[in-house]
Amino acid sequence: MSDNTEIKQHIAILQHLVHQKVSNLDLPEHPVRLYEPISYFMGIGGKRLRPVLALLSAELFGHEAAAAIPSALAVELFHNFTLLHDDIMDNAPLRRGKQTVHEKYDTNVAILSGDALMVLAYQQLLVAAPEQLPALLKEINKVALEVCEGQQYDMDFQGRERVTTEEYMRMIKLKTSVLLGAAMKMGAIQCGAQPTDQQHAYDFGLYTGLAFQVQDDLLDVFGDPEKFGKKPGGDILANKNTYLRVKAMEIADQTTRMALNSWYAAPDSEAKVLEVTHLFRSLGIRELAEKEMESLLQQAFEALDSIEGADKQAKAKLKAFAQYLIAREE
Ligand code: IPE
Ligand code: IPE
Ligand code: MG
Ligand code: MG
Ligand code: MG
Repeated sequence: MSDNTEIKQHIAILQHLVHQKVSNLDLPEHPVRLYEPISYFMGIGGKRLRPVLALLSAELFGHEAAAAIPSALAVELFHNFTLLHDDIMDNAPLRRGKQTVHEKYDTNVAILSGDALMVLAYQQLLVAAPEQLPALLKEINKVALEVCEGQQYDMDFQGRERVTTEEYMRMIKLKTSVLLGAAMKMGAIQCGAQPTDQQHAYDFGLYTGLAFQVQDDLLDVFGDPEKFGKKPGGDILANKNTYLRVKAMEIADQTTRMALNSWYAAPDSEAKVLEVTHLFRSLGIRELAEKEMESLLQQAFEALDSIEGADKQAKAKLKAFAQYLIAREE
C-alpha cells in the first residue's frame, strides 16, 4: 500500500491536472461581465475535490485518471455554478478567501454567469464516448435536480426552530452529497464498470459527501477564518439549520433550547455568533459531529470495500482522500 506522502503527492498531481484543464477552457471575451466573473471565480482556487473523486474512480476501475476528464470537468463546473447561486442565496460576502461574485460584480452578474457555467459543465461531456453519453447525462440530470431540491430544503429550514436529524441528513444528502456520489459514478461509467460497482462507487461518494458537509458546518463555527475562506459564523447569521444547531436542539435541556431560539431570532451581531458558539461548545456538539463523521466514513469505506477486483492502491488513495476531507481546515 502506498504511504501517505505518496498518496498526497498523487492527489496533488490530479488537482493540478484539473487546474490545467480548467485554465484551458478558452472562454470568449465578450460580454466581459458574463465571462470575466467565470474566469475570476474558477481562478481563485477551490479544492477540486469532486473532479479528483472522478479521476480516482477511473483509477479504481483500472484506467488512467485521464479517462474520466469529461466527467471530472463537468462536475467541477457544475459545482462552481451552484456556488455562484448559493452565495447569493446565503448572502455570503466571501468565498475561497476572496469576494463572492455577487459582491464583486452584482447579483444579476452572478445569476447569469452561474447559468453560463452550468451550460459549460454539460458541454464537457460532449467529448465522452458517444455510447456513454446517455448514462452520463442521466446521472448529471438526476443529481442536478436533487441539488435544487436540497437547496430548497435548506431555504425552507432557514429560520425554522426545529429540524430533525433525519430531515437535516436528507437535506445535506441532496444539496451536497449526491454530487460527490455522481463524481464517483460518472468516473465509473466512463470506465465501463458494472452497474453494481457503479452503485458502490456512488455510495462511497455519497457517505463521504455527508461527512464532508458536517465538517463544512463545523468549520463555519470552529474553523480558522483565514484558512476556511468564508465569513466566520455565516451559518449562524443566516439562521441555518446546520448539524450543530439541529444536534444542539436535540440534546439541550429546555432552558438551553430557549436560549438558542432567542439568539437565532435576534438580529445580526457579533454577540449572536459568540453566544451561539458558546452554547454549542457547552453541549459538546463538536465532539458529537466528529463521531458522526467517523461513522459516515466507515459506511463510505464499507461501500468501497464491496467493489471486488478494484485497484488496491486507488482504494487506499480514496480512503486517505476521504480522511483528509473530514480533517480539512479549508
Ligand atoms: C463548498 O464546497 C460547498 C459545500 C458543499 C460545502 P467545497 O468546500 O468543495 O468548495 P471549493 O470548491 O473547495 O471552494
Ligand atoms: C452548499 O452548502 C451546497 C451547494 C452549494 C449546493 P453551503 O451553503 O453550506 O456551502 P458553503 O458553506 O456556502 O460553501
Ligand atoms: Mg447554502
Ligand atoms: Mg453557502
Ligand atoms: Mg456551509
